[in-house]
Amino acid sequence: MSKIYQFLADGFEPVEALAPVDVMRRAGLQVTTVSIMGRSNVVSAQNVTVVADVLFEDVVFDDASALVLPGGGVGTAPMLPIIQALKAAGNRVISVIAGRSKDLIILEDEVRASSDEVIIMTDDGSYGDKGLVTEGIERVIKREKVDHCVAIGPAIMMKFVCKLTAKYEIPTVVSLNTIMVDGTGMCGACRVTVGGKTKFVCVDGPEFDAHQVDFDEMMMRLSAYKSQEVESFENFKPMHNA
Ligand code: FES
Repeated sequence: MSKIYQFLADGFEPVEALAPVDVMRRAGLQVTTVSIMGRSNVVSAQNVTVVADVLFEDVVFDDASALVLPGGGVGTAPMLPIIQALKAAGNRVISVIAGRSKDLIILEDEVRASSDEVIIMTDDGSYGDKGLVTEGIERVIKREKVDHCVAIGPAIMMKFVCKLTAKYEIPTVVSLNTIMVDGTGMCGACRVTVGGKTKFVCVDGPEFDAHQVDFDEMMMRLSAYKSQEVESFENFKPMHNA
């Protein structure tokens, strides 16, 4: 398997630099953090010191992997730093961004800047190709070998991306977006089942092996407050001309 290198310099943002490392390691990729400061200790923008695995001058760079990264709707935003890190590490990166219509496609320029190829899919065909995100992904899979997939977006989108990549036996990571209340692992609002075991997205995730996630249970729990959400939205409309 190819190695991936995540570069660190003083003033780095942990969300941008270390979250993608976590995602990639959970996907089974071999990720090495590299200090470009000439010392192992690197200090974040929040003054937190981390110790990089190696110094830049000690790294011997080798080959790279092909990865496909579908992002649906606002899922493109958390996907962006992952795309940037994987590209910076020398991988072939194919990004598939999707939305119901053109106005829901976001961060296209930023994604293009760090991708070898960008495929845009819209449900209504108002931009890019008409169709679902899975159709864009399968087009890539049928054309070339895909080593890994990282999917972030609505639960239903991740579920079907997961079904697709399971069919082709492509290791896949998803970032789950459950309801959260306390964010400490105590309230249970974000409970999901992964590999038959109970997990809490706020403390055990949010990234998990997609092929182990019980998406049907997750979506059922996500709709627990549906009637209250609809009522709240109706109350919101007259106040904000929605
Ligand atoms: S948000 Fe409460 S346990 Fe995760």
